[in-house]
Amino acid sequence: MSKKYYLTTAIDYVNGHPHLGHAYEKVVTDAIARVHQSFGESTFFLTGLDEHGQKVQKAATEQGLNPQDYCDDLAASWKVFVDQLGLCHDDFVRTTQDRHREVVQKLLMRLHEEGHFYKATYQGYYSAKQETFLTEKDRGEDGAFDPLYGEVVELLEDNYYFKLGRHQQWLIEYIESHPDFVTPEYRRNEVLGFLKNQTLEDLCISRPQSRLSWGIPLPFDPDYVTYVWFDALTNYASIPASMGDPALPGFGKAPDKEAALWPADIHVIGKDILKFHAVYWPIMLKAAGFAMPRQICVHGWWQKDGQKMSKSTGNVVDPIEVIEEWGVDAFRYYLLRELDIGPDGNWTDKGFHARYSAELANGLGNLINRSLAMLNRYRSGVVPAPCDELKPEVSEAADEVLDLARSHRLQASLRRIWELIARVNQFIDQTAPFKLAKDPSQSDRLDEILYTLVESCRVIGVLLHPFLPITSKKIYEQLGLEVVPHLFEYATWGGLPQGHQACAPEPLFPRKDLPTKQES
Ligand code: ME8
Ligand code: MG
Repeated sequence: MSKKYYLTTAIDYVNGHPHLGHAYEKVVTDAIARVHQSFGESTFFLTGLDEHGQKVQKAATEQGLNPQDYCDDLAASWKVFVDQLGLCHDDFVRTTQDRHREVVQKLLMRLHEEGHFYKATYQGYYSAKQETFLTEKDRGEDGAFDPLYGEVVELLEDNYYFKLGRHQQWLIEYIESHPDFVTPEYRRNEVLGFLKNQTLEDLCISRPQSRLSWGIPLPFDPDYVTYVWFDALTNYASIPASMGDPALPGFGKAPDKEAALWPADIHVIGKDILKFHAVYWPIMLKAAGFAMPRQICVHGWWQKDGQKMSKSTGNVVDPIEVIEEWGVDAFRYYLLRELDIGPDGNWTDKGFHARYSAELANGLGNLINRSLAMLNRYRSGVVPAPCDELKPEVSEAADEVLDLARSHRLQASLRRIWELIARVNQFIDQTAPFKLAKDPSQSDRLDEILYTLVESCRVIGVLLHPFLPITSKKIYEQLGLEVVPHLFEYATWGGLPQGHQACAPEPLFPRKDLPTKQES
């Protein structure tokens, strides 16, 4: 079997519950995975949890739990969360699993034996909150460290260092010669700016057991555990390796062609962890002799009502609450439609309700509902002979959506689908089938319009599949079609045969703000 399209999300810290940012990253990655599936590709989608390190150890201790029990409890609720999001993920990694730990230790051993590490005394500052060392350079203009770092302590300790500097020039050249390696472009420029203007300091890859015990022991020095970021980044390779990926030989199971995943096709991450993914991770892979991932796709951060989300002020969006009240597809729609991959976004309840009501309940829901209601009322749900009246417009829209989707322009894809929805709704208003139905001499014209409408609905159902999989499936079900529209090739005009029996419509997005029932 040929290599699958391999996608990953960042793995989330288990020191709390999932929030909107975590949900967004997973939904974006899921939509990209489904786009590739709709093009007929096999995908492998990995997500999971980052369980080691000081943050997690501290959170566990505060609750009087040992870290493993603490992680096990939370991991169970995170797994429920990814199911609630309706993700099509194939695996869920936890960095406390043996399959991951074994690969991390083998990687450390290889790099150690090949002379990539050295031991030295460190004197400086440390932020436990960000699990990172700081230097004088990290102080702000007022001399203080950014509050983002939390409490910063001074340290004097021996540690192992990874010689990054020797790869700096190579990395600059690699990024320059691979324009799509980091997207969007302004993130790529940020990495290049950083690499060209600063000397890369060696990376401390250990923590003394005496200070931090919750980590993977260094295989060559039991007095230390592995720095959590070295551990966490390795997840992207440890899972394929543990399955026997032939591109990662000697790190896991015997080579198995079925497990061909590496190199990753896309790592989806947030803007705050760009340096880890675009600097440290490529150098780790280069030193180990592995291929580079094809793309690091960097999304922005969500705020709520123009402010940083924070548990302490209660300014949060709980994804589960939204999903329970409005349905997962409404949630997915808002995230993907409101925010392009790259810039920061702002959640407002008002904006969510407005999109729900105008675009989902009225735009899409009303189109499907009216079309099927009329087919049922005037033709007992039986599809008339094919008519090509809107074929050129619908086909053009479908082609454009496919092009946009192929280049992962999710927001633009949705915008284009809704232009089509508006066009078909307009077609109803222009042709007024509800008037023609009163005039028996207009029966042929009514047939043409009804075919045009239900076939347009069908194509829209296919185009929606990567973005709103449940809704897409419901549209097909209401059309009386037994398959799931999981391939874009179904978007070709003319799929509904004459005489096909459709079902009765049911509201896809019930109106919440209006007291009256959905009209047709
Ligand atoms: O950074 N909006 O985990 P994490 C959008 N364990 N995205 C957000 C966000 C927001 N408000 N807040 C967080 C870690 N994210 C590490 C990753 S990967 C080898 C290790 C995103 O739980 C954030 O940018 O702090 C990151 O991509 C992801 O959520 C996990 O964040
Ligand atoms: Mg974070």
